[in-house]
Amino acid sequence: MDLAKEEERMLDGEEGYAVKKSMEILVALGSIYSAEKLIRVGSVQVAGVSYHNLGDAGLEYLNELARDGKVKVLTTLNPAGMDLEDWRNLGISEEFAEKQNLVIDAFRKMGILISCTCTPYLIGNLPRYGEHIAWSESSAVTFANSVIGAKTNREGGPSALAAAFVGKTPSYGLHLEENRVPDTHVHVKAKLKKLSDWGALGCSIGNRVENKIPYITGIEDADLDELKTFCASVVTYGSKPLFYIKDITPGSEKHQPPREKITIDDEDIREAYEGINDDVDVIDFVCIGCPHSSIKEIAKIANLLENRTISPSTEFWVATSRPMKQLADKRSYTKIIKKAGGKFACDTCMAVAPLKGRFRSVATTSAKGCYYSRHNHMKTKLGNLEECIEAAVRGKWN
Ligand code: F3S
Repeated sequence: MDLAKEEERMLDGEEGYAVKKSMEILVALGSIYSAEKLIRVGSVQVAGVSYHNLGDAGLEYLNELARDGKVKVLTTLNPAGMDLEDWRNLGISEEFAEKQNLVIDAFRKMGILISCTCTPYLIGNLPRYGEHIAWSESSAVTFANSVIGAKTNREGGPSALAAAFVGKTPSYGLHLEENRVPDTHVHVKAKLKKLSDWGALGCSIGNRVENKIPYITGIEDADLDELKTFCASVVTYGSKPLFYIKDITPGSEKHQPPREKITIDDEDIREAYEGINDDVDVIDFVCIGCPHSSIKEIAKIANLLENRTISPSTEFWVATSRPMKQLADKRSYTKIIKKAGGKFACDTCMAVAPLKGRFRSVATTSAKGCYYSRHNHMKTKLGNLEECIEAAVRGKWN
């Protein structure tokens, strides 16, 4: 990979330890993927924030970088393992909170915005069309590439952090136009009637196109919440973090449907639900907000929970970013949800909070949430908002 003079100097350690270490990571990545050069990035999203996943080794790594590392571009954070303010209310232990706070302190020292959300595009880290960025967090990466039309590979936590310290990333993969060409045509004949159908659709497409870029036809309309749900699901279940939906997402007009074609019909959606849903009746955990809830979703939750009471045997979380919760406070949605017995889980989510062993079953609107909850040994139910709220109120599915 060709390096400019200033990049050589960074690699030689002239800007300190964190930048040198970062350059080593970026140069190694660049040579693995035959990148010709480093390119500037407009912003970075760093995943690998939960102490639950990092452990002490990860914390030590971050502390080393934080000694002299300062980010050069707008850098936001993925969810942490707990609500940074209200962690006690979510049943997080003192020991965990102490370690999680040390992780956050390290990121703060680096000049990173402590945003702790997987929807950075809803709270101020919104790239422009065509902009190169270096994001980790698969759902956000897929949203940035497909819905916004920005360009990013699916970075890991360390490579994203390295891009933040250098302000650049190696030019390979989805940064290059030739690698953004769709290679499979997916025609959706299925009728999508509710939000969770988009998660089931993502699951069905992801399973079938495996590591390809789908060009999707047959969809007439999609709102932001549907697209963010689909982004989370399609990449979790197997596709590349980029898709095109004809006449809906940017760039679709530049491409023709590829020759290789699959069709998704109602039966495929039903099968996807069948694969995701376990045989379980009692629900002890309901979580909405994977990816983090938008204000529109929170408004719907409040509307459905007004004058209702969540079952005492069921924990109900609304996972969202803190700015979204602040909007909810202003609109009294928070009051309604809390009065019903629900909790806000800001800064964190059902996959990265230390939940293993706490709940036996979860109901959620998110296919990605189901995928990761199984890793936490929970039985899963995927449903729309109304079904999940009913499960929370009755403590049962159906
Ligand atoms: Fe976001 Fe956590 Fe889901 S990071 S996409 S809420 S698994």
